[in-house]
Amino acid sequence: MTTDQQHKDKIGVLFVCLGNICRSPMAEAMFRHLVQQEGLADRFNIDSAGTGDWHTGNPPHQGTRTILDRYGISYEGLRARQVAANDFSDFDYIIAMDDSNVSNLRKLMKGASTEVIKLLDLVPDVKLKDVPDPYYTGNFDETYELVGKGNKALLGHIRREHNL
Ligand code: 4NP
Repeated sequence: MTTDQQHKDKIGVLFVCLGNICRSPMAEAMFRHLVQQEGLADRFNIDSAGTGDWHTGNPPHQGTRTILDRYGISYEGLRARQVAANDFSDFDYIIAMDDSNVSNLRKLMKGASTEVIKLLDLVPDVKLKDVPDPYYTGNFDETYELVGKGNKALLGHIRREHNL
């Protein structure tokens, strides 16, 4: 089976932010960790990307690495990349961190019909609906907490849709 076919059998989840060095790699690493804990790792194809290309090839930001280290969550091998046209067919769930990611994605999608979900729209009990960008706020703890809530809600959403 080719890698492409293997990927088609799995539930594809792509986390998207602007630079792919702070929020979306944090969400990717945390979601990988969560599905491993739940015994579902082999059901998923998980990745992240940025709508911008400035950091292509770079590892996650030091602040993201520090907080993931603190919680024992691996980010091994993660490297930034830009969203590509085939992402809209390769992934079932495109998960944006904020409104500007959603509008940038719409421009990159060129009419593709893949649903784009904003992570915190899945969480009923948070007031913030955009994940704050720690590249600007410097507050990686706040981002970690919100992404954790979002990821739990996302897994619940996917479990319901896929009877997992
Ligand atoms: P991210 O944060 O979208 O959460 O990865 C940013 C990282 C880099 C830049 C902006 C936001 N930048 O302008 O280089």
